Amino acid sequence: MHVNPYYEKLPGNYLFAEIARRVKAYSAAHPDADIIKLGIGDVTRPLAPAVVNAMKKAADEMLAPATFHGYGPDYGYEFLIDAIREKDYAPRGVALAADEVFISDGAKTDTSAIQELFAPDARIAVTDPVYPVYVDSNAMAGRLGDFTDGRWNRLTYLPCNAENGFVPEPPKEPVDVIYLCYPNNPTGTTLTAAQLTPFVEYARKYGALIVYDAAYKAFITSQVPHSIYEVPGAREVAIECCSFSKTAGFTGVRCAYSVIPHEVTGIGGNGQRVELNALWKRRMGSKFNGVSYPVQRAAEAVFSPEGQAQCAEAVRYYRENAALIRRELQTAGYEVFGGVDAPYVWMKTPTDSWAFFDRLLDQAHVVGTPGAGFGPSGEGYFRLTAFNTREKTAQALERIRRL
Ligand code: MLT
Repeated sequence: MHVNPYYEKLPGNYLFAEIARRVKAYSAAHPDADIIKLGIGDVTRPLAPAVVNAMKKAADEMLAPATFHGYGPDYGYEFLIDAIREKDYAPRGVALAADEVFISDGAKTDTSAIQELFAPDARIAVTDPVYPVYVDSNAMAGRLGDFTDGRWNRLTYLPCNAENGFVPEPPKEPVDVIYLCYPNNPTGTTLTAAQLTPFVEYARKYGALIVYDAAYKAFITSQVPHSIYEVPGAREVAIECCSFSKTAGFTGVRCAYSVIPHEVTGIGGNGQRVELNALWKRRMGSKFNGVSYPVQRAAEAVFSPEGQAQCAEAVRYYRENAALIRRELQTAGYEVFGGVDAPYVWMKTPTDSWAFFDRLLDQAHVVGTPGAGFGPSGEGYFRLTAFNTREKTAQALERIRRL
């Protein structure tokens, strides 16, 4: 058996695994160090009571033969799909058919698995810096060429930096797929409808697909779209991935959803248009047995009036953490970006970003994420998350200020 040769081209570990490895090694060498983690975007607030109650009730149903649930529908239970259509999309003027929404265990799962629908030689574009999952999953499928000098030579990078105000330009050359994540991970910045429009126009002109990751939309407070479908013409060219992880604290529970409108097509072998929706259904049928019933009931409860209020409270808490991080870093003289409509604050570093990571870990016992780990344009920047507790966040910032 020969292994997939493209795995051998991957540089080192997955970013957050590499950070965990370094922190573990540091802790082992410095057992007394009280390390505060503002690295991976993992939540710390407990689940909303409405969510837990729904989960418990569903677990009780599993005790009785009459209400027990075995295999669920591959694409998700109707009750959750309808809640998403009616409570998440309809209020924004986005009408979705029930079979355009797919329930899964995570946006990471969906944004990485979607590439199975692309031709092996599809050309890919990503904003740079970028959530590494989009890049790694396409590299594993052999689409990105070779990784040399910190870049994949068959990947189109769309730089986002302080110089361009974190507003990427559409690719200069024809590509097949563009990944966009807004509010952005890692920079915490957003795009307005007017700034997203050129991407939709590009996709329509070149027959490209937009994979839109909206995992952080619950954090939006400014006048920017929560969904790519708020941009006219997007329904024909975009799929959208959303998650309960950051909205409702589901990082350990696992539930997410993706939208694939029927109008989104690719070109088949005979030159005919093929619906990605049909291909995704085919894939789900063969590869997925659905998210568990109690978890889907828990996710449904996120959309109940109590669930909405309780989840909004947690999001507000993280947003206040982000404001605190921004304020404290600015006071300490750092240049900061993002963190207004997102749980991530992106800061300029005085040294290269891995050196800054090491210094912060060693001298402040604070973990963040080096910008270089998100792509070449991330060099010189650093990401802090707002997901820790208020106390730990304040303590971490105090230590950074003292550096
Ligand atoms: C991050 O820190 O970028 C995210 O937590 C990763 C993820 O959601 O998978």
